[in-house]
Amino acid sequence: MEIIIVDSEAEVANIASDYLAYYANKGGNLGVATGSTPLATYRELIRRHRAGEVTFKDCSFFALDEYVGLPIEHEQSYYHVIHNEFSDHVDVDPARVHIPDGLADDIGAACEDYERKIIEAGGIDIQLLGIGTNGHVGFNEPSSSFSSLTRIKTLHPQTVLDNARFFDSADDVPYHVVTQGLGTISRAGHLLLLATGTAKAHAIAASIEGPLSVSMPASVLQLHPRATVVIDQAAASELKNKEYYEFTYAHKPQWQKDMWK
Ligand code: PGA
Repeated sequence: MEIIIVDSEAEVANIASDYLAYYANKGGNLGVATGSTPLATYRELIRRHRAGEVTFKDCSFFALDEYVGLPIEHEQSYYHVIHNEFSDHVDVDPARVHIPDGLADDIGAACEDYERKIIEAGGIDIQLLGIGTNGHVGFNEPSSSFSSLTRIKTLHPQTVLDNARFFDSADDVPYHVVTQGLGTISRAGHLLLLATGTAKAHAIAASIEGPLSVSMPASVLQLHPRATVVIDQAAASELKNKEYYEFTYAHKPQWQKDMWK
């Protein structure tokens, strides 16, 4: 894993945008995420797109997850969030923006269909990830199998509380979701996990330095050949080897840094 620790949310967004723009300009397929963490990155990518620095014209987007039963027009549906915060503002073909179907009569068949769509598109080149305070990625809550595929999950009560801020009350948060599995996520060519703030410090330390465990789903990154973790000082505050990661990044050869420009 490459661990990049920076001073601000803006720097997290800047570095994340370098990686995503690199794949986008090659016509790669991007795995997109919701939640508050990626929003600054989307704003930066939209800015770069308007400046003519990045195009998404040959990309497909695949979202990580979706609530079950929330109409797509609902402003908290991930269909709405991905379109509103990102895809509607760039030149990706809307027909190539894929979101898991949380409204299907047959959710199981819709999940299989989603897996098939990813494979038929040639796979996801880079998957953007946030992390839950309980270590979830996508909506793979603790106990999710490392080889799980897209499926229906029940949210952990902590996640319902964490997401209540987006709704009128915790009672309005749907507790069923469809999410790419940890196995689906692991098949992406590159994983890019972002986190900011002290609320994420425990999950970050446990995922990067703790044992591989389905109790800490983001620890699956330890098994991936190309995982990049970009975090601010607050999210890095519980890492035992923080100075080592900072030393490593400070001494990263310039040609390796330039690769993603
Ligand atoms: P957040 O959510 O970016 O809103 O903190 C991340 C997640 O739950 O995966």
